[in-house]
Amino acid sequence: MAAHVRSVVIPAAGLGTRILPATKAFPKELLPLVDRPIIQYGVEEAVAAGCRRVVLVTSPDNTMTAAHFAPNPALEAVLEKRGKSETLALVRSVSAMAELTTVHQAQPLGLGHAVLMAAPAVRGEPFAVVLPDDVIDAEPPALRSMCDLFAELDGPVLLVERVPRDAVNRYGIIDASPLRQGVYRVRDLVEKPDPADAPSDLAIVGRYILTPDLFPVLEQTGAGAGGEIQLTDGLRDLMAQRPIYACELSGVRHDAGSRLGFLQASLYFALKRPDLAPALRAYLRTLD
Ligand code: G1P
Repeated sequence: MAAHVRSVVIPAAGLGTRILPATKAFPKELLPLVDRPIIQYGVEEAVAAGCRRVVLVTSPDNTMTAAHFAPNPALEAVLEKRGKSETLALVRSVSAMAELTTVHQAQPLGLGHAVLMAAPAVRGEPFAVVLPDDVIDAEPPALRSMCDLFAELDGPVLLVERVPRDAVNRYGIIDASPLRQGVYRVRDLVEKPDPADAPSDLAIVGRYILTPDLFPVLEQTGAGAGGEIQLTDGLRDLMAQRPIYACELSGVRHDAGSRLGFLQASLYFALKRPDLAPALRAYLRTLD
């Protein structure tokens, strides 16, 4: 029986270059989708999957992201004094959501390197990785389904989604054989292949359940695509030691780290909100 997945690693030390200049001085993961920062969607998904320990990987000069998940006594005191009990409960719920540890990635050397920085914090246990740009709406939550699969198969699980052929060079792509509907055993992985060389159209979409035996492998992983230490390359090396599995997303994903994806995600989540949807729909109809 596989161990329970208690920790989630959230790499958030990227430069946010795809959405500049908004992210010049402000962390990308704190940009709001409706009224919650992008990263909060990922944390809520992880907590819903039973991962209450959040390991945030940030650059050393970013104190804002951790502050979002910490109590804010001054703000809480003002809200209390003004009798804003609903808002106060909302603010408190964010800091009560999870147990946060921050680790620093001094230089943006790649996703594999960011995950390696979290090694001491996951305490030798299996752990989840959530890439906050990939905002997923699924029921049950994607990470929860992946934890169930991990418990069954006792091996790393990646979340994949079919993408258009001309988009494969933006993702880690797997070659895989189906085990059953929507579940695969991974045969190979390649980071950001040219469309002509891609082994399939199954792209890794920002959710992983991983095992601590990945860390010594990542220590040996050299720079790959884009000159960065890639998680995909580390996983490919790990496959020499143990089987890796993938499951297909059943739900809706937005890439909130791109300009268009950010706008689409904002509209998508606003249109799910009963307090906003009717007025927003009416407004959208006035545009053409
Ligand atoms: C990262 C991973 C890639 C994965 C993607 C999903 O790439 O390296 O394998 O498919 O996230 O969003 P990035 O988007 O950081 O370039």
